[in-house]
Amino acid sequence: MALHTLFPTRVYTAPLRAQGVTAFNDKLINEINHLREDDRAGQIWSKAHYPGGYTSYASASRMQSCSPTFAALEAKLTQHIRAYAKALAFDLKARPLTMTDCWVNVMPPGVAHSLHLHPLSTFSGTYYVKTPARASGLKLEDPRLDRFMAAPPRAMDQRSDQAPWVVMPAKAGHLILFESWLRHEVTANTARTERVSISFNYSWF
Ligand code: NI
Repeated sequence: MALHTLFPTRVYTAPLRAQGVTAFNDKLINEINHLREDDRAGQIWSKAHYPGGYTSYASASRMQSCSPTFAALEAKLTQHIRAYAKALAFDLKARPLTMTDCWVNVMPPGVAHSLHLHPLSTFSGTYYVKTPARASGLKLEDPRLDRFMAAPPRAMDQRSDQAPWVVMPAKAGHLILFESWLRHEVTANTARTERVSISFNYSWF
């Protein structure tokens, strides 16, 4: 007999760069802290939609065009996006994938971000800036769950490629890329201090 793995969901993780990541993250944290203090619209939006935390998702969502540090992040991320697109056999000869959005997320202990996907984008991802011990990872959901209505439960020793959901660890200096239709969430941050990340979308249009 033979078992064939067809239509796989591929998720990409990598360190952002080989060296100098600590100094780079310190610079990012500094800018994020200033933004968080100054961004009144973001504070108001976060209070209503991101309780207990701060996100610039609705107020400063194109950070790559307002900060040289974030522009440097974009340049690095775009290299990873190209590698990911290649691994997925995407033909990008007609035009490249372009970063459309880039925003920051600060999650103090207990803050969560419920299940969602990123409509209107091709690839999405997160770069981790600060991940204290026990900081929540990124929980990814099997995109076929709604077709599994009548399936029996899976054994508890399931391998991660057969689990109904998988938590990818959040690690400062590292990034994760996934296709934007993949539903994901960040469960309540169980660390004792803030977890800081930068999320982004790339589109092909
Ligand atoms: Ni997301």
